[in-house]
Amino acid sequence: MNYERFQNQASIVRKSSPLRDLPGKLSARPNAISMAGGLPDPEACPFIEATVKLRDGSELQIDPGDMALCMQYSHTEGFPDLRQWFKELQRRVHNPPALGDSNHPGQTDVILMNGSQDALCKSLEAMTSPGDNILIENPAYPSPGIILKPRGCNMIPVDSDAGGMDPDNLRHVLSRWSPEDAKDPSSDIPKLLYCVPTGGNPTGSGLTLERKQEIYRLAQEYDLMILEDDPYYYIQFTEPLVPSFLSLDVDGRVMRFDSMSKLISPGARLGLLTGPQPMIQKIVKIIMCSSIHVSGISQMFVLSLLKKWGHDEFLARAKETSNLYLKRSQLCVKYLKKHLTGLAEWTRPTGGMFIWIKIPAVTNTNELILRTYLKDALFVAGSAFLNDSSAPSQYIRASFSLATSEQMDQALSALAESLKEILSKKT
Ligand SMILES: Cc1ncc(COP(=O)(O)O)c(C=O)c1O
Repeated sequence: MNYERFQNQASIVRKSSPLRDLPGKLSARPNAISMAGGLPDPEACPFIEATVKLRDGSELQIDPGDMALCMQYSHTEGFPDLRQWFKELQRRVHNPPALGDSNHPGQTDVILMNGSQDALCKSLEAMTSPGDNILIENPAYPSPGIILKPRGCNMIPVDSDAGGMDPDNLRHVLSRWSPEDAKDPSSDIPKLLYCVPTGGNPTGSGLTLERKQEIYRLAQEYDLMILEDDPYYYIQFTEPLVPSFLSLDVDGRVMRFDSMSKLISPGARLGLLTGPQPMIQKIVKIIMCSSIHVSGISQMFVLSLLKKWGHDEFLARAKETSNLYLKRSQLCVKYLKKHLTGLAEWTRPTGGMFIWIKIPAVTNTNELILRTYLKDALFVAGSAFLNDSSAPSQYIRASFSLATSEQMDQALSALAESLKEILSKKT
C-alpha cells in the first residue's frame, strides 16, 4: 500500500518533537542524570500513593513508585506495559494478520488515545484535506461530520439498514469512479470509509461477517482506508462476537478505534488506535504537539486494574456488561410494544446502547421530541444523525443504557402521549 496517499500535506511534512523521545531515553537508562527535559520535581506533586476500592469489594494499591511514575510526563504512545497488555488483547480477540509481522509494510501497531473519539479526530486530522470526499454510513454518529465539515471535506452518504452499512449501496456510490482513479492523485475518488460496525450509533444495527468481507473487498478494489469506529464491539447481544474489519485486514488498510468508555469508564478517557504503523507514526506526531499522552493517572488506574484482572477476566467482565445492556434493550422493546404498537416501528438492536425508532405518521420528529421533553423525557431527533442535520427525519434515537425499567416505562409513555397529541391536532 502507498500510505502517502492517505496522508495530507501537513502529515507528510510534520516532524517529531525533538523533546518527546526523552521519556523513552530515560526509561532505557534509568540511572542517567536528566538535565534534558522539563520534568517537574516530584516533590512538587501532592499525590503520593492511593488505594482504590473496586465495586467487587477488592482494592487496587498504587504504591509510591507507581504513583511517582504516573504523575510524571511519559511516553507519547502510552505506558509500555499498558500498550503491551492491549496489544496482546488485540492479538487474542482480532488476531490482525499484520500484527507482529515486521516484513509487512503495514505492520499493525497499537497506541493509547484519549478515548476512541480522540483516535477518530486525530486520524481525520492526519488524513484529510479540503475537498476530500469521505464515505460515511447514513445515518451516522455525528462526530465525524462535526470534525470533517469545517475541514472542507464532503461527506458521501452510504445507506445503512437494519444490517448496518449496505455493501450494494457502497458499490453503487463508488461506481461514479473507476478503481484506476485511486492511482491518480488529482482524482476526487474517496480514500476513507467511516463506519460503526457494532451496535450502530444511532441504529443499534451490526454488520455481519459477510457484509464486512464484501465491504473489505470493495475497499481493496478502490484502495480505501476503513475507519472502524467500534466502541461497542464487546457489547454484542449474540455469540460468538462478529469478527472485526481489523481481523480481516491482510493489507493494512484498517484504522480501528476501541474504547474503554463502555467497559471501564468514560471519565478514564482511554481508547486504542490500532492500525498500520506508517499511519500510526503520523498520529503519534500529532499527539506529541497536542495532548502529549493520555493522562498518567488514568493509565495507572486502568493498568493496575487490568494486571489484576488479566485478559480472561477482562473478557468475562465485558460479557457481563454486554448482558446488562442486552437486558436493558429487552426492557426497552417491552415498553415500546406496550406504548407504541401501531404508532412506531423499530428493529431489535443487535448490540450497543441505542434503538432507532421510526414514527411513520410524522415527517419530522423535532416537534415530538420537544413535546416529550416538556413531559420530562428526553430522546434525540433522527435529523441529528443525518449528513444535513436540518433535513427532516421520521426517526428518533432512544438510549436504553441508563434508564431503569420504571423510567423507560414512563419515558416511552410520555413519547406515545406526545405523539397522540400531535396526531389529534392533525385530524
Ligand atoms: C460511535 C462512537 N464513537 C465514539 C464514541 C466516543 O467514545 P470515547 O468515549 O471512547 O471517546 C462514541 C460514544 O458515544 C460513539 O458512540
